[in-house]
Amino acid sequence: MKILNVANYEEMSSEAARLVEQEIQRRSNPVLGLATGSTPLGLYRELIEGFNSRGISYRNVRTVNLDEYRGLAKNHPNSYYQFMNKNLFHHLDIREENTYIPDGLARPVEAECRRYEALIDEIGPAHLQILGIGTNGHIGFNEPGTPEDSLTHCVSLAESTRKNNARFFDSPEQVPTHAITMGIASILKSDKIVLLASGTRKAQAVKTLLEGTIDTGFPASFLRKHPDVTLIADQEAFHLA
Ligand code: GLP
Repeated sequence: MKILNVANYEEMSSEAARLVEQEIQRRSNPVLGLATGSTPLGLYRELIEGFNSRGISYRNVRTVNLDEYRGLAKNHPNSYYQFMNKNLFHHLDIREENTYIPDGLARPVEAECRRYEALIDEIGPAHLQILGIGTNGHIGFNEPGTPEDSLTHCVSLAESTRKNNARFFDSPEQVPTHAITMGIASILKSDKIVLLASGTRKAQAVKTLLEGTIDTGFPASFLRKHPDVTLIADQEAFHLA
């Protein structure tokens, strides 16, 4: 794993944007794997800035998102579909039909998971996948206990994850109990992975990622088996490691 130890959130975001833009510029049909959560918001602001002032076009870019809450319609304000439109896609020249996110309402859910995994193989896998990390080591919504060979599947969210994500909802009870997520094996199919971590809240997770054993108890540890992962973390996220 390559490690970039940067000063702060802004620097983490601009370093990540530099890697994403490099990937877009060196390919004719780039595929980006994208993430939600608060961590990549600064990166997305940088990419919008790059589109507006550095002339980076997304006309030929396709994107696959990691996950979506189960039970939320696309137009629900807390769906990841809305999150991506609001924080990134609507500000770029990307074609809507080139952006892919699991459908949180599709039934049966097993068929939607199979469809999404087939889609990842068909258009991707991603040339570059952006990841955040949960305080319990989850990537996407792969909670502790998720097998290494998992593909896109429906998960029951850990209580700690629902609590952490409650800040985006009007009340904690509104946080869905389930989600559809790319599996660990789906994520590891990507050519390159860029993992972002910022703030003291992530310090223990970064330490466990770098120093702990590779096992299902800490899903992000499987990233250490991938040949091209870059961890970009700021001082606060590194201070325990
Ligand atoms: C969420 C997302 C993950 C994200 C993580 C961390 O639940 N499913 O993709 O990386 O939790 O979130 P944050 O960046 O807000 O700390």
